[in-house]
Amino acid sequence: MNIEGIEMSDSLGIRKYDYVEFYVGSAKMVAYWYAKALGLKIEGYSGPETGCRDRISYYLTQNNLKIVITGSLQPSTVEVSNFLNLHGDGLKRWAIEVDDVEKIFNHAVKQGAVIQRRPQKIENEHGYITEAAIRLYDDTELVYINRDNYKHIFQPGYDKPIQDIQLTSGDAGLIGIDHIVGNVRENEMDKWADYYVRTMNFETFIDFKKGDIGTKYSALLSKVVRSEKSTIKNPINEPYEGEKKSQIEEYIEQYHGTGVQHIAIKTGDIIHTIRTLRENGVEFLNVPDTYYDTLRAREDINIKEDIDELQKLKILCDNESGGYLLQLFTKPIGDRPTFFFEFIQRAGAQGFGKGNFQALFEAIEEDQGLRGNL
Ligand code: FE2
Repeated sequence: MNIEGIEMSDSLGIRKYDYVEFYVGSAKMVAYWYAKALGLKIEGYSGPETGCRDRISYYLTQNNLKIVITGSLQPSTVEVSNFLNLHGDGLKRWAIEVDDVEKIFNHAVKQGAVIQRRPQKIENEHGYITEAAIRLYDDTELVYINRDNYKHIFQPGYDKPIQDIQLTSGDAGLIGIDHIVGNVRENEMDKWADYYVRTMNFETFIDFKKGDIGTKYSALLSKVVRSEKSTIKNPINEPYEGEKKSQIEEYIEQYHGTGVQHIAIKTGDIIHTIRTLRENGVEFLNVPDTYYDTLRAREDINIKEDIDELQKLKILCDNESGGYLLQLFTKPIGDRPTFFFEFIQRAGAQGFGKGNFQALFEAIEEDQGLRGNL
């Protein structure tokens, strides 16, 4: 069943988001957090028991959300250990499901994409997958994948989990990925937006210019690119000069490079989602109560949800001509103030909550100040 109702691919054969993979210090413990805190199901496992001796991966899912958590087993697994040494836990790659890996890869490379992995067929007794990857940002990969001819868990090398850590604590109602956001350095945003446009026929959808987003202390510029059918949406942020250090600069400094800042996960019922995640101990950015006084006074939004309930759970709301959206951001999930998640419910709005950036910036600056990074 296709829960998002995406039926057709676009002219380059792009279907939708597939999986995302994080490199982490201890895959078993991080997988435990995703199972226990986000309520994902540990569906697959790859490690020495399945014939992979240098790394361990857990494959977790809920509806269309597919997350792989990978840790290194050997100092010689430099691809993983060098990444961790430099960046800390972070997002190494995200994948797009496509009709034809070779076709889109060849197109992207012809248009200037940096080759990470040429198309390859990976097979076992259950069939095969095809995949290839191009480079994104400093040290991130964009993977093209097709698994139409594979009839087992995730991809060859994966099997049922052997450890008994099925600790899901209730379905938080997560549907799939809504958008993935990259943080880049000053003057790099246009270059990366153009990279998506050239290599995958994306179009620039929203452009936040100087003065659009920021507090008196720090600011950012942001451009959103999307695929022809809008199934893939990627905002790109760069810092903009302010009196103090912007959150984008803090990310780049602490991550030691550019990379993915956050992934927004879709939900059909954000009140249920945030309530469940808060019960599970997920930490969210603080939203001041005054935010809801302003929200109640706004006459331009016809919110179906109970605002008292939104206030209790500190969920943000923003409107657009087409409708509104509800969203909330976690605090950074790892040790460094780098990667975080967003949860989003769209009621007609296609944007990214520009009106909430102010509240978001203030909340992040408060935490940045506590870390001594402002
Ligand atoms: Fe977002």
